[in-house]
Amino acid sequence: MNETVTGFRSAAAPVNTILQVSGVAEPDKNTPHSTSGETSSHTQTASAAHNTADSTAAHAASDNTAQTRPRVKPADPRFSSGPCRKHPGWSLNTLNTDYLGRSHRAKEPKARLASAIERSAKLLGLPADWKLGIMPGSDTGAVEAALWSLLGQRPVDVLVWESFSSDWATDIKQLAECETITVNLHKADYGDLPDLSRYNPAHDTVFAFNGTTSGVRVPDLDWIHTEREGLVICDATSAAYAQPLNFEKLDVVTWSWQKVLGGEAAHGMLALSPRAVAQLENRPAPRALPKVFTLTKKGLLNAGIFNGATINTPSMLCVEDLHSALDWAESLGGHAALEALANDNLNVINDWITDTEWVEWLPVDPTTRSNTSLCIKIVDPVFAALPEDTQQGWIKTMCQWLAEEHVAFDIAHYRTAPAGFRLWGGPTVATQDLIDLTPWLDWAFKRCLKDISLNGENA
Ligand SMILES: Cc1ncc(COP(=O)(O)O)c(C=O)c1O
Repeated sequence: MNETVTGFRSAAAPVNTILQVSGVAEPDKNTPHSTSGETSSHTQTASAAHNTADSTAAHAASDNTAQTRPRVKPADPRFSSGPCRKHPGWSLNTLNTDYLGRSHRAKEPKARLASAIERSAKLLGLPADWKLGIMPGSDTGAVEAALWSLLGQRPVDVLVWESFSSDWATDIKQLAECETITVNLHKADYGDLPDLSRYNPAHDTVFAFNGTTSGVRVPDLDWIHTEREGLVICDATSAAYAQPLNFEKLDVVTWSWQKVLGGEAAHGMLALSPRAVAQLENRPAPRALPKVFTLTKKGLLNAGIFNGATINTPSMLCVEDLHSALDWAESLGGHAALEALANDNLNVINDWITDTEWVEWLPVDPTTRSNTSLCIKIVDPVFAALPEDTQQGWIKTMCQWLAEEHVAFDIAHYRTAPAGFRLWGGPTVATQDLIDLTPWLDWAFKRCLKDISLNGENA
């Protein structure tokens, strides 16, 4: 097995010529930048909120520990990266319960499943000749079904730059230990992308479009050849519906309901290109597969999976919850509107980071910064000088303070990522809530610095 560790380099263009993601430029922290006009009309920028927070007694007041304790709290403290916040207006009471307690194979419930597939495909802009099905096991189930059903025909290149892509690499390596498969790992550390110019069109390629645990996404798919022999298998779970997917460059795309649409976990979506279907039918995987990964029947694609006849029993409550999310997404105007909301959220945090000395983006290259998983590291010299486990202890403590204040839940870095914060910026998160969160992050960090100076480095 080959293993290379590289920083980010796009095959398509040198870094400084790659299009900026979402129009987010990278202003120098010392130069003034615009605080208006970059976000949609219902938002203001984080720095505008900062100005308000810092300059008016209405927004901030000093407490007796001499830290500025903001008065305004986010209306909803849920910033988890999965399961993600439900869409605005969501209520359990509005979900259709007509099909609960009925067989999912009966005519009407099955039609509800089929319609969830159709609406999801439409929202995503899936080409008409692709197949979309619901899989057991959430995104993980959909990815694993693809890996175990399709890999083995040619060498496999796995792009690894955060935790989940690393998990896929581990599984593929295990597969390669039992069979003769060449596996090449192209790795980068948290914050970077591997060298995309190493893409080989003769090989199968496995990657995550958006690395949720590092907040690093691929800026585009220009590095993938349209004419290729290998299949491109893309885990798009925290990208789907918030980032543009160019289906010409992909053969398998997976995601789960619990991310951008704020649906429920446990159900995965698996989209297959005609090339992927042809391989399943003409060059089936050279191995026995468990039932939950089996996509064919008598040598042909099991069409049922792709029209609502799921492999095993789905939750009809989760299906109705998805329909509710699709109603919301469609009412906003579809994919472009969802993406714009996520971009607004990215801009808010980008502005705050630009204005704030103690933080920096974890993703180094601005073109790779996710608009859904917003990953932040702490660069303050006092904090940075602490041992890693002490830093992690302080993050835990700050997150506890923020949770106790009902300001932010679940925003600590992923357990194997560098110490910092990870905020979900997907479209179900209100931009105003991120604006209102940033002064609280400043508050928590000031409190942390004060405690460090009083108590030494122990968190
Ligand atoms: C990139 C990526 N892949 C896979 C998963 C696993 O998703 P699930 O738990 O829905 O299977 C996650 C979860 O956050 C993820 O971020």
